[in-house]
Amino acid sequence: MAQTYYITTPIYYVNDKPHIGHAYTTLACDVLARFKRLDGFDVTFLTGTDEHGQKVEKAASDKGVSPQSFTDEVSQNFRDLTAQMNFSNDDFIRTTEQRHKLACQEIWQRLEERGHIRLGNYAGWYSVRDEAFFTETEVVDGKAPTGAPVEWVEEPSYFFNLSEWQQPLFDHYEANPDFVGPESRFNEVKSFVKGGLRDLSVSRASFKWGIPVPGDMDHVMYVWLDALTNYITASGWPTDSELGDPAKYAKLWPADLHMVGKDILRFHAVYWPAFLMAADLPLPKRVYAHGWWTNEGQKISKSLGNVIDPNALTAQYGLDQTRYFLMRDVPFGNDGDFSAAAMTRRMNGDLANDLGNLCQRVLSMIFKNCDARMPAVPAQPNDMDQALLAAADDLLDQVRELLDRQAFNEALSVIWQVVAEANRYVDAAAPWALNKTDPVRMAEVLAVLAETIRQIAILTQPVMPHSASLILDQLGVDNAERDFRFISGKRRLASGHQIDKPSPVFPRYLDEAHADG
Ligand code: MSP
Repeated sequence: MAQTYYITTPIYYVNDKPHIGHAYTTLACDVLARFKRLDGFDVTFLTGTDEHGQKVEKAASDKGVSPQSFTDEVSQNFRDLTAQMNFSNDDFIRTTEQRHKLACQEIWQRLEERGHIRLGNYAGWYSVRDEAFFTETEVVDGKAPTGAPVEWVEEPSYFFNLSEWQQPLFDHYEANPDFVGPESRFNEVKSFVKGGLRDLSVSRASFKWGIPVPGDMDHVMYVWLDALTNYITASGWPTDSELGDPAKYAKLWPADLHMVGKDILRFHAVYWPAFLMAADLPLPKRVYAHGWWTNEGQKISKSLGNVIDPNALTAQYGLDQTRYFLMRDVPFGNDGDFSAAAMTRRMNGDLANDLGNLCQRVLSMIFKNCDARMPAVPAQPNDMDQALLAAADDLLDQVRELLDRQAFNEALSVIWQVVAEANRYVDAAAPWALNKTDPVRMAEVLAVLAETIRQIAILTQPVMPHSASLILDQLGVDNAERDFRFISGKRRLASGHQIDKPSPVFPRYLDEAHADG
């Protein structure tokens, strides 16, 4: 039976339109999901929307509509984004769904039955924008450390005994060195926990837009307890409820990876595992926190009016180009800056010049000089052929290892090293000159190149699904032979079939201001 892989994005607040930050988190998951599918895994990829809480309630009332109709509308924008970005999620969860309400109430009951929840009073600061509580010392000049405004809240509240989970959390971190990535962020999590944990307020009594606390209609659950639970809801839990699914739960839980942004790591690496331990449920295997994007050097914010709309970006540069740029330009885990110049450089350099020209030159020569028939990879390749084929054959192992640690940009960089090697090989072997002097050798050279391109295209499918499939179509690769069982020297490109006249897959971006790329 295939190994399973369950990967999740954060669920997005529906107080606003989707922007580049949202698209980025989901894109990273999409690339991993696609990679794992090609690598033979039975993948479940989840995304969705986080629809309760004060922030959403306020956004709805500002618009003068009910929270339910507001969330229906905005959630749909996020669902549309998945299609626009060619995301391959298997499920889309909304926290307003019944299956999720049942899961939240079950988790609450388990926490309560085990004695981890008590009723008390909360008096302290709350930031609606962050949907988070802050202590007196954290609030400086009326602002949370995130810069968000805070308000003073005093109300009855249920508390989760987070303070008692310091040691168990620490033991878990020690026993699972890959629990959080990147390592620098894991260290921040550990020092936060080392600093001591305070009990956490897990209900609110001053508004209604949330999941009711079982047995106490005056309270709704704190939106983060509600939101985090989505991951286990979608796995078919609770298995004995009318909407549960025991087989699915057995297959999916615990999740393999929760992908999050650095701003919400604490919720995923401290609170969520504590809730799960307290409820006697297994913990996710890994949480990875990526960095944040700025726009031309500036923090992205609505008030600055520089929010990047993913649809505008893909309309301007192309979908696969945008996907490639976001995964390639910045070491995943670090912050990154979006600039038109960097985008144009990648698009014209890596894509149009390096990979695009390689494909176009090789396929055109096959079309013109080999009678449009795919030549065969030589049975006895010479040293030069062997070096290039070996470099292509080695890629899968390297890329797999890099993606298992979410090093997307390094994975693309090792693939592009082989693109560069293939370009050097074309120049050195000069097949255009061989056409007259040694057509047999010319055909061999072109076949070695076509085989290298085939492997590169198969490996870039997760990042650029559409463009990679165009290249594979042009090479005449069967649809059923585009997964990883067919690369790394296990198979070679079939020969003898007719190919069509090739057309370029990666256009250049012509922009006067940045035309130097
Ligand atoms: N609803 C919570 C998550 C609950 S998960 C159980 C939430 N939603 S959010 O819509 O505000 O943000 C979702 C994700 O978008 C976060 O991972 C966040 O890091 C990411 N980004 C928001 N702005 C971003 C950038 N400028 N750059 C990169 N990612 C950013 O938090």
